[in-house]
Amino acid sequence: MTTVARRILVTSALPYANGPIHMGHMVEAIQTDIWVRFQKLRGNECHYVCADDAHGTPVMLRAQTLGITPEQLVTQVEKSHRADFVDFLIGHDHYHSTHSDENRLYAEKIYRALRAHGHIAVRTIQQAYDPVKNMFLPDRFIKGECPRCGAADQYGDSCEACGATYAPTELKNAVSALSGAKPVARDSEHYFFKLGDFEDFLRRWTGNAGEDSSARVQSEVTHKLKEWFDAGLKDWDISRDAPYFGFEIPDAPGKYFYVWLDAPIGYMASFDYYCRQKGLKFADFWAADSTAEVYHFIGKDILYFHALFWPAMLQGAGYRTPTALYAHGFLTVNGQKMSKSRGTFITARAYLDHLDPEYLRYYIAAKLNNRIEDIDLSFDDFTARVNADLVGKVVNIASRCAGFIGKRFDGMLAAQLPDEALFHEFARAGDSIAQAYDAREYSRALREVMALADRANQYVDEHRPWAMAKNPDKLPQVQAVCTQGLNLFRQLMVYLQPVLPAMAQKVEAFLQIPATQWQAHRTPLLDHRIADFAPLMTRVDPEKIQALIAAAHAEAAEFKIAAAAAPKTPLQEHPIAAQISIDEFAKIDLRVARIEHAEHVAGADKLLRLTLDLGGEKRQVFAGIRAAYEPAELIGCLTVMVANLAPRKMKFGVSEGMVLAAGPGGKDIFILQPDAGAQPGMKVK
Ligand code: MSP
Ligand code: ZN
Repeated sequence: MTTVARRILVTSALPYANGPIHMGHMVEAIQTDIWVRFQKLRGNECHYVCADDAHGTPVMLRAQTLGITPEQLVTQVEKSHRADFVDFLIGHDHYHSTHSDENRLYAEKIYRALRAHGHIAVRTIQQAYDPVKNMFLPDRFIKGECPRCGAADQYGDSCEACGATYAPTELKNAVSALSGAKPVARDSEHYFFKLGDFEDFLRRWTGNAGEDSSARVQSEVTHKLKEWFDAGLKDWDISRDAPYFGFEIPDAPGKYFYVWLDAPIGYMASFDYYCRQKGLKFADFWAADSTAEVYHFIGKDILYFHALFWPAMLQGAGYRTPTALYAHGFLTVNGQKMSKSRGTFITARAYLDHLDPEYLRYYIAAKLNNRIEDIDLSFDDFTARVNADLVGKVVNIASRCAGFIGKRFDGMLAAQLPDEALFHEFARAGDSIAQAYDAREYSRALREVMALADRANQYVDEHRPWAMAKNPDKLPQVQAVCTQGLNLFRQLMVYLQPVLPAMAQKVEAFLQIPATQWQAHRTPLLDHRIADFAPLMTRVDPEKIQALIAAAHAEAAEFKIAAAAAPKTPLQEHPIAAQISIDEFAKIDLRVARIEHAEHVAGADKLLRLTLDLGGEKRQVFAGIRAAYEPAELIGCLTVMVANLAPRKMKFGVSEGMVLAAGPGGKDIFILQPDAGAQPGMKVK
């Protein structure tokens, strides 16, 4: 069977640069990597690129918190992301950043093309603005009470308590999550991508116009998209105002591309960089008439961007559109959504600190199919599965046969297979397994491989080489049976290579064979010397699992403490009060006063008795500032008092007004002092 090699470009979604790689990301990376390795193994030309998604408000704010520039932050993060992927054996051909020259170039190019074709609109909109931080607030940075159920502390786009979605303007008692200030509505000119211009095209592209597009999007996606079409395709707001970490929009000073505008363009940017390294032609893959295949592996949460905005942008700017989108579901951990506070948030690094990456690759693969279903990482199941399948079945075949070949036959395999039919049966199974991999039906592929592994073990069981080895006459049969067993094992390793690349390499060293090619499952290894057997994979150590879970819980505890201890700004503590009129303000008579005398009050450990001189009139005021001030340091100072406050009778005497002070209390109280030159009695207005 000869086939023309396919030319394929594959991507995984670009992880945000504002956090670590976690188990959820790994589901996607593992799914993609297995597919890419499979295509390469089959002899296809397949390139796998990815990048960090570097732009946006969260990155900008995180950098501010850390006291570094966003550029420094994204450089640091990219380094750790790359290391995590490498250690999980994810074979990106190139890993880039959206904060790169290539990405700026393509973002501008695509934007200009869309504008030239009339697909960009400019409109003034009202948006929430933080008057303290001096910036427009993304929905996620506005908090308040849910307009539906009243739950406190909900974000500007949706309520975690009742699931309602709404506009940030509908929140009750909304405050900026950054400063605690009440957001004000401000006008700003925004740039929009007119998605509606592409409705006919998108309906056809996604299978919502009658014809079959099942090759392009999964049927679940077609249905989901129907709802979006029915709701109407709205213009997409692609601009953000400064301050913003991103690319400035051409001819629009102070306006930046929204992070999601340049994020998918990052696929192109990464590939463009890689093309120049490798001498490939970018246009072969991206020109409108390209015959190459382009696939995006993505999570279900980012379908809207990939199935609507992205193909429309490409179409509008004169590029080809993706061959297909491969969407997957979400990972839960022990049945729960990954959550930092619940201890189910497991970072890639925490996993790697305790466990073998190939365990996870196998476990995830054994659960993946080509539908959008959530999958659960249950550690009991994980342990049972890996131990039973990989150690108990696959490695077991090799370890049972290798010893005899090594010790009794000086590492030489027999010249003939005793059961050629069985070998050919294993070879024939390769077609169905390949078909399953190609269709992203990994769980089926692995079920078929494990059924073969059972057959191979059964073969060894039936021929009992350990029993025959006791009888010198039967030694040739021992060699033959073990040769058969090792050949079956090798076929299985060809099939498992996309999932277990490191183990496959160890097997190549052990069997003394060249780098695995898919076709290798058809030719037996005979009359060939192999190396000593070294353990290929050990059982999952339950203690390591416990240690990983403990580490995740420890992180969760730290996270909770950090979240609770996060200092609140004064405005978060006391949001600005309801508006008053100037007339209302004028009712308060504020005066400069000299502190003529200050003293402790017997029996009151918080108060000082102050005698205030208003330039003719004297007032006695009790002020709760004893912890913050020694009486002596106050005497002679000027301050500001409320002079027309109704007198209040206290245990120690009448208080005839109030001095103005700021601060949370205790030692942290700061009385107001007017600038030099002010005179007692002057009105403050
Ligand atoms: N930066 C965007 C993608 C831009 S692509 C042009 C983004 N980043 S992300 O870091 O939030 O997610 C990256 C990918 O990981 C997405 O495809 C997302 O669906 C996937 N996952 C994130 N959490 C996940 C799980 N818990 N389970 C499975 N995949 C998940 O979105
Ligand atoms: Zn609610």
